[in-house]
Amino acid sequence: MTFEFADRVKRLPPYLFAEIEKLIKEKKAQGVDLISLSIGDPDLPPPPFIIEALKAEVADLKNHNYSFSQGEPDFRLAVANWYKKRFHVDLEQDEVVALLGSKEGLANISRAFVNVGDRVLVPDPGYPVYANGSTILNDAVPVAMPLLQENGFKPDFENLDSKEVKMMFLNYPNNPTSAAVDKAFLKQAVEFAQDNGVILCYDNAYSEISFDGYKAPSILGVDGAMDVAVEFHSCSKTFNMTGDRIAFAVGNRQLISGLTKVKSQIDSGPPVYIQRVAAKALGSYTDDEPPEFLKKNNLVYAERRDVLVDRLCSLGFECEKPKATFYVWVNCKSDSMKFATELLEVGVAVTPGIGFGEHGENYVRFSLTQPKERLEEASERLSALFQR
Ligand SMILES: Cc1ncc(COP(=O)(O)O)c(C=O)c1O
Repeated sequence: MTFEFADRVKRLPPYLFAEIEKLIKEKKAQGVDLISLSIGDPDLPPPPFIIEALKAEVADLKNHNYSFSQGEPDFRLAVANWYKKRFHVDLEQDEVVALLGSKEGLANISRAFVNVGDRVLVPDPGYPVYANGSTILNDAVPVAMPLLQENGFKPDFENLDSKEVKMMFLNYPNNPTSAAVDKAFLKQAVEFAQDNGVILCYDNAYSEISFDGYKAPSILGVDGAMDVAVEFHSCSKTFNMTGDRIAFAVGNRQLISGLTKVKSQIDSGPPVYIQRVAAKALGSYTDDEPPEFLKKNNLVYAERRDVLVDRLCSLGFECEKPKATFYVWVNCKSDSMKFATELLEVGVAVTPGIGFGEHGENYVRFSLTQPKERLEEASERLSALFQR
């Protein structure tokens, strides 16, 4: 018997990372000492207080039942308290929903608000879930917003075609470009959403990974944002908890209730013990300053960033030191797949920009998720390759 995929699945674009992933597998099978700078998953562990909390909460037998669809009240309170401390934003508990990772929330929000054929603005290059999991899999139409280097990798709101647009995704600090924005930009985004009746989904998954004194703002800190926006946050990168699947969305009450309604028909929320641990993790902020563990984490990334960017610059690549995220986005001035394949030949795996959208072509993304020594070794290999 053969089964045909639904049209919406057939409409998904080809998975462009497949080719490079196949080559990476082959290299590994050949026993090559591969330095993987292609993965957006921290190599650093969660801090010890989180592991201790996890052990204690798992051992509590009351923590193994179903949780509430919207999330445990204590968790939502912890999120609201964190927002107050970190962003000086006031939230009620019904303006918060717990997520099984922000990816899940980003994919499900469209299901609640987007109809067949509606247009959804997505950043290009961008995290593929906006266009694929969220838009195409909900029978809507992704419309690329080019993020160009000359515009600081920000969309040009004045020239965006807003006709029949229902929703827009924005993500800063940005994956893959590592661009960071200020509040003035967020104000423009909120005004665009207000003027055009567009739902603004703001992905702030990397807000806590920042360097050199930069502090990422929340869209909800902008006047009027609560009328049009929902913001997505995650414990994945902030607390090195990618596999624990805990995140949250906050913002406009109606948008949160739509997302909760969809989720209540699909999943039963993150485990209670994970929500309790995440509440403790968020509670480790005493004011808008990150806790010590996070400051150290960010120093580690900053040191790695300096090693890599300094070497890339000395090899003639134009790249700046990002203020946030653990990515370095480099203009390779050539076909990104070909460039990534060349790097694989010397045992360095990076992500070709074309996989993030048409406007990612001619760029590659390096992840800083390897120890400094491995980045130094990768830099040596790049030097050997480009100085040949
Ligand atoms: C921009 C962006 N948003 C969201 C996510 C999803 O994170 P999670 O589902 O682990 O919260 C990622 C993961 O890499 C990401 O890069």
